[in-house]
Amino acid sequence: MIPAVEFVGTGKVYRTGFFMRRIEALRDLTLRVEPGEIFGFIGPNGAGKTTTIKILAGLHESTSGEARIFGVDHRDPKARSRMGFLPERPYFYLHLTAREVLRFYGQLSLVPDDVIARRTGELLERVELSRFADVPLRKYSKGMLQRVGLCQALLHDPDLVVLDEPMSGLDPMGRALVSSLIREEQEAGRTVFFSSHILHDVETLCDRVAIIIGGQLRALGAVEALVAEHGNLEEAFLSEVDRSTPVDPKTLGVMA
Ligand SMILES: Nc1ncnc2c1ncn2[C@@H]1O[C@H](COP(=O)(O)OP(=O)(O)OP(=O)(O)O)[C@@H](O)[C@H]1O
Ligand SMILES: [Mg+2]
Repeated sequence: MIPAVEFVGTGKVYRTGFFMRRIEALRDLTLRVEPGEIFGFIGPNGAGKTTTIKILAGLHESTSGEARIFGVDHRDPKARSRMGFLPERPYFYLHLTAREVLRFYGQLSLVPDDVIARRTGELLERVELSRFADVPLRKYSKGMLQRVGLCQALLHDPDLVVLDEPMSGLDPMGRALVSSLIREEQEAGRTVFFSSHILHDVETLCDRVAIIIGGQLRALGAVEALVAEHGNLEEAFLSEVDRSTPVDPKTLGVMA
């Protein structure tokens, strides 16, 4: 079966500052996400999760290796049209309403106007924002904006949903809502790849997880197996962090 997401030896080196200091954010990532999976991507702050997701979304160039979406090079717009994406810090034009913002994104993805209108209604209802559909986003709270971000990611019915910390900023009801949305996506046959620091949610939702530390893949497996071995996902994660070589703060690469 063609994987929904495939990284092969993917790496990313950032160059920053006047001296073009080398920062290795991702090293030799090889990973497959199978169609229909809910796949969790976890790791400490600065581990390289957002970098990986941005490469997949075509927002950052990788410096080595390959990345594919349903077998198609991630740089090909055809690959990206099958992907819905929630950025870590979604940015919206705050003078627009939720309905207007979703129309804007829908039109960018060439979704027909009648479909945009129908999906907007369905999704805002689903994330419990119908009442605020025509309120400018500047009046929204952080969690409400996060929900609009989710609607934007799902608007064009993508086969692959990539979410960078979808639970961030949400209250417990919001987290439960996002969890059930993710499950519904899977039930509808879609693939979900998401990063999160909320390991309890990852444990209850995901089929498989990857643990990335200092830009390197440290563990990959079925949640069930990790939980059987460590008691829960948090313990599995912490033991992996304990075992890992410290990260060099100058290069963010792993210390030799
Ligand atoms: N544009 C950039 N230029 C230079 N360095 C960067 C850039 N973006 C990220 N980095 C560095 O790459 C490393 C990986 O960052 P990344 O944002 O991918 O981590 P993350 O796992 O998403 O962390 P978090 O859990 O805090 O969101 C970080 O240490 C960061 O300093
Ligand atoms: Mg991040």
